[in-house]
Amino acid sequence: MPGYENLERDAIKVLRLNDLQTHTIPSKGLYSDDAWLWDSAFSAIGWSHINPRRGAVEIDTIFDGQWQNGMIPNMRIHRSDPVLWACRRLNQNAPRSVTTSGITQPPIMAEAVQRVSQKMDNDDRRPFTVNAIGRLAAYHEWIYNERNPGKSGLFAAVHPWETGMENTPSWIRHMETIDWGVTGRIIHALNPLIQLGRNDTKHAPKEQRSNSIESKLYAQSFIKLRSTHYDPARLADDYPLHIEDVHMNSILIRNNEILDELADEYDVPLSDTLRGHMAQTRTNLDTCLWDDTDQMYYPRDAVSGKLIKISTIASLMPIYAGSAPIERVDALIGHMTDPESFGLPYGIPTVPYNSPYYRKHCYWTAPTWLNINWALQDGLDRQEHALAAQSLRTMTLDMAEIGGMHEYFDAETAQGLGAKNFSWTAALTLDLIINQRDEH
Ligand code: GLC
Repeated sequence: MPGYENLERDAIKVLRLNDLQTHTIPSKGLYSDDAWLWDSAFSAIGWSHINPRRGAVEIDTIFDGQWQNGMIPNMRIHRSDPVLWACRRLNQNAPRSVTTSGITQPPIMAEAVQRVSQKMDNDDRRPFTVNAIGRLAAYHEWIYNERNPGKSGLFAAVHPWETGMENTPSWIRHMETIDWGVTGRIIHALNPLIQLGRNDTKHAPKEQRSNSIESKLYAQSFIKLRSTHYDPARLADDYPLHIEDVHMNSILIRNNEILDELADEYDVPLSDTLRGHMAQTRTNLDTCLWDDTDQMYYPRDAVSGKLIKISTIASLMPIYAGSAPIERVDALIGHMTDPESFGLPYGIPTVPYNSPYYRKHCYWTAPTWLNINWALQDGLDRQEHALAAQSLRTMTLDMAEIGGMHEYFDAETAQGLGAKNFSWTAALTLDLIINQRDEH
């Protein structure tokens, strides 16, 4: 495949620039030196093309942060953290020798394990993969044990940071309806100070980042969450935000499938209970999160049992899950290609163009993110929509060529936005280029 040589070189350069040997940081400046769950999963996929062993190290760094109850945290924190998350002090399941956060992120690690494993030498492959299968099984079991409040097999996330799309309008609008109590009012009063202390707005234009109301909501919900000590019983009784998100559950479905494939291939048994839960998630994404009138998937508030009818990119993620009925996938492709909705020149935007919440340059409220496009093209391919997958890949690579290795992109013009030299943009650009070349 000619034409993307410069892009490929840039992508490799960015991964090397952000490489701390044990893990790849998202980008310098805007982000600290921590290892993030889904960032590292994507970086590992990028590394698998350069040096598969380095990809395996990336994954093992994330596994080192796994809690005793199986949870894999969204951040393995590089510095010590006695005050903010304070996990080691507050929860006995937190690892003793490494510092982590107390919540998770989209469960996309099985995807990374499989892709890295496929590229490894025979000698390295088995020990790495067998160990990973054990870690992944414990993680997916944790999801069903502790984040399955309705016993529906639907993963309920408890903080917008868990989705990796923190200011996505469905979560924000819902969080605005919650009374965050006394601590919420204290945070409200302290909000001007909180805004002054922010690092992100020092490294990227303010209008490209979460606004002050959104970041106040993150803080209010975080303080409330921390007061439960990340304990599932206390979360259930004394914490109001539990959302069965389409994005999280779609990723879970696909990664359950991959875990199942890996377990079969390496002859590692998975429990019948886990297999039962996996089947339930597949069924209930469609039974519980589909709205027939709007022909759209929506997140559900697990507390009231009501759908939150705001469409975002999460609504399209069942394309990645690969479990939706054909006619629903067709409906999603219809939304995806509709120029009034998600069909923008450099889509797929994270919020549809005709939404009242569309903010052209702001974070998860319109801009295109390359990791989402990567997941969607993969799902389209698996469901025999090869042409749609190919045109999404071409659009995505063109966008990266115009905008550079940025964190996200203007869906109308491909202008690069947010952090520069962003690792997952680089890693997945590389993956798209190399896979495409291998096919020709
Ligand atoms: C932001 C993103 C999240 C990502 C993190 C590190 O919080 O929204 O998805 O994991 O940055 O890049």
